[in-house]
Amino acid sequence: MVEFNPEALQAAMESARQKSSMGSNVTDQIASPAALLSEERAAAPRVGDSLQTDYMGLSLRNPLVASAGPLSQTVDGIKELAEGGVGAIVMYSLFEEQIRHETAREARLLDQGSESFAEALNYFPIEPSNESGLTRTYLKLIEQAAPVIDVPLIASLNGSTMGEWSDTARRMADAGAAGIELNIYYLPGDLVTTGREVEDRHAEIVVDVKSKVDIPVAVKLSPYFSSFGEMAHRLDQAGADALVLFNRFLQPDIDLNQLKVVSGFDLSRPDEAKLPRSWISALYGRIDASLGATTGVETTQDVVKYLLAGADVVMTTAALVRNGPSYAGQLVDGVTSWLRRRQLSLDKARGMLAVPSDTDATDYARAGYVSGLERAKQVYSR
Ligand SMILES: Cc1cc2nc3c(=O)[nH]c(=O)nc-3n(C[C@H](O)[C@H](O)[C@H](O)COP(=O)(O)O)c2cc1C
Repeated sequence: MVEFNPEALQAAMESARQKSSMGSNVTDQIASPAALLSEERAAAPRVGDSLQTDYMGLSLRNPLVASAGPLSQTVDGIKELAEGGVGAIVMYSLFEEQIRHETAREARLLDQGSESFAEALNYFPIEPSNESGLTRTYLKLIEQAAPVIDVPLIASLNGSTMGEWSDTARRMADAGAAGIELNIYYLPGDLVTTGREVEDRHAEIVVDVKSKVDIPVAVKLSPYFSSFGEMAHRLDQAGADALVLFNRFLQPDIDLNQLKVVSGFDLSRPDEAKLPRSWISALYGRIDASLGATTGVETTQDVVKYLLAGADVVMTTAALVRNGPSYAGQLVDGVTSWLRRRQLSLDKARGMLAVPSDTDATDYARAGYVSGLERAKQVYSR
């Protein structure tokens, strides 16, 4: 129900006046209360509005996905996310370092046992198992949660080198994961690794993990490549079923009181969506892999902007952490209303504002940069 608020109307008129005096061509919409009310009624979600989405071969009821985060660490947490209205859930990550650590510990135990109690070897499995601690807990969580929710559960495996840790992808699939999100967080800090080596490593890890599972594999990665488009194309060729753009680089900060470097863990802001959105828009229609958007979702508008840019799914952790899992339902209803207001289907809207297929994406980006600077000069010059 929209109530008439003279102060809000006054503020909107003032904002429009200021914008027009600054030369902005973005004008505020000032509608009468009656018009707003009928617009709201027309936009209310109705039975039959379909947000059905294909994401890396998985059929989702809607394109909103809970990204890997703190809310998926228990069966109850995962159930709450599903009941909250998301179309799929990506679980928190199991890290290569954790798997390696557990495997090494098991091997050490096996060695110690063989030195002190030779006969005790009979009691150990032939192969050292990493079925302990975090890995076992993770696999058990998949086994328990996947059957009790009505949306796909995607496991997250996080690593940056080649190695046996990637065998865990198969275990995740066997435990009941519908897909794997492979997070490759690799930002070399040395002065010798070349860009090509970094790219090769990404492609090799993808090929390795893909060879171990039959379920779809999404790759979540950073934007820091000399030519991200070529990297995306290589990963597509290497068999990635989806690309998730982008990992959020949690840069450390310096605490001046403690004189210490402290790790950063703040939640994202909507402004941060511009970088992934630009790349999704440039890749839309140009690669086979699905496109997942992550970072900077707080409102329905943020979700819609990603869809217009060409995202197959839009992920969020920050919004669900801030507002609770049931907020997903509000975001999804918001998307339906927005589409109704514009009289668009989701399929029509998706990619509507991507870089046009007949346009050179490099020229497009440069033109955007130049026109942005020109506008800024007009607005800020004295
Ligand atoms: C508390 C917290 C825990 C997270 N844990 C993981 C994780 O285990 N694996 C992963 O790939 N991303 C993880 N992320 C990153 C999110 O999946 C997401 O990519 C990032 O937060 C940006 O999206 P947002 O703006 O919706 O938060 C985490 C984020 C937060 C805030």
